[in-house]
Amino acid sequence: MEAVVDFIDANRARFVSELIEWVRIPSISSDPRCSEEVRRSAEHLAAEMRRLGAGRVEIWQTPGHPAVFAEWLGAPAKPTLLIYGHHDVQPVDPLGEWISPPFEPAERDGRLWGRGVVDDKGQVYIHAKAIESFIATAGRLPINVKVIVEGEEEIGSGNLEALLRSRAADLAADFVCVSDTAMFGRGIPSLCVGLRGLTYLEVFVEGPRGDLHSGSFGGGIQNPVHALAKMIAALHDDGGRVTVPGFYEDVLALRAEERAQIASLPFDEDQWLQSTGAPGLWGEHGYSTLERIWARPTLDCCGISGGFQGEGAKTIIPARARAKLSCRLVPNQEPGDIARKVAQYLERLAPPGVRVRVEALHGGRPYLAPTDHPVYELAKRAFTRAFGKETVFMREGGSIPFVRTIADTTGKPCLLMGFGQPDENSHAPNEWLDLDNYHLGIKSAAYLYDEMSRLSGMAGRGEESE
Ligand code: BES
Ligand code: MN
Ligand code: MN
Repeated sequence: MEAVVDFIDANRARFVSELIEWVRIPSISSDPRCSEEVRRSAEHLAAEMRRLGAGRVEIWQTPGHPAVFAEWLGAPAKPTLLIYGHHDVQPVDPLGEWISPPFEPAERDGRLWGRGVVDDKGQVYIHAKAIESFIATAGRLPINVKVIVEGEEEIGSGNLEALLRSRAADLAADFVCVSDTAMFGRGIPSLCVGLRGLTYLEVFVEGPRGDLHSGSFGGGIQNPVHALAKMIAALHDDGGRVTVPGFYEDVLALRAEERAQIASLPFDEDQWLQSTGAPGLWGEHGYSTLERIWARPTLDCCGISGGFQGEGAKTIIPARARAKLSCRLVPNQEPGDIARKVAQYLERLAPPGVRVRVEALHGGRPYLAPTDHPVYELAKRAFTRAFGKETVFMREGGSIPFVRTIADTTGKPCLLMGFGQPDENSHAPNEWLDLDNYHLGIKSAAYLYDEMSRLSGMAGRGEESE
């Protein structure tokens, strides 16, 4: 390992400049004008995987954006690790708020700034550079590694399940690792043991055929904006609970030990609130902030529109209004079931005089890790070797559809070893990657592979169970 670690130290700057080249490609999956760029991003990664000596590199087409697959199977009788990431990124608006342009990555204050630097290109490269460091020093990896990097995570991974099913044999592995989450805080190595799921809906409220003069018609017909505002306001009670009938029906309650573990984390609530800029906390009564954002289901209106949006005054009754809603889900809620319940409730809440239509956009299932599985001890050892610190278990409120799907189809836990920071601005302007962490991440990944290679008892177990 010494040679590997020395190589990682000696190549620190080059590993950053290589990441910069990939981040330059604006692979925004939600923007149809960028589909060529998403393809170029896949090709760029595939070329990098070939350069790193993968025995097999393929671009897997989907009905949407392509995924990249690569494998190094040169370690007979050693375990196989499957690594997942995504090469698509979020949109960049509002563009004016970026200090340096999103696709011209810049180094400032020990950070790399740009869209996708941490979510998730930087975290994919943490593994790529760990792989490179073994190949460059030992000529081979200590374990077998397969990598799948999809191009549609940020738009809900709609084609991933079919891809995983059709490629199940190619993806078979003993371990699965995803680096696409944040650490609890700076310098605190963290394993994420729970993710929330998601269901995303759009509500359309329609009234008159077109906008009407509010003087001539106001007071005589229902206003769609009022109707929608009232409907959305009715989705929570005063205790911060979601009022949708049956919403909490399948929720797995937090166990006393889980609550105690969460409460034991060094969470600075004031600082967390300050980082948001909001004037106060809000949430479901009876739960702490970390419980609310990690382990309780929520419903949020992500956007609302309708009526006159221009400068000055315009006296109308708008013809229509619409809103986008997201629900974050916890075990054992199902996205389809919750989407149905919310849609039915919204239809029931619709006041007379408007038509209401609800569309389900996408979803993903929640994940809770079996933390008594030996892979968690192994990952902790790897982290301690890299960071020289104890690892904490945490959850995340965000979603990664792949995680639950792979855990269910393989029956194996999905190790979530993330290297982001809580205030990294992912999905927002000025996304940044902590470069010390990038460097330590590469070491952590290398130690992870090394720890896995010591488990020769695992070898063959994957094949037997297939
Ligand atoms: N990397 C994030 C998931 C994440 C979010 C991890 C917050 C840790 C903290 C991922 O790229 C993401 O943004 N997921 C989407 C999923 C959705 C589009 C299905 C999300 O959570 O909104
Ligand atoms: Mn991500
Ligand atoms: Mn994301």
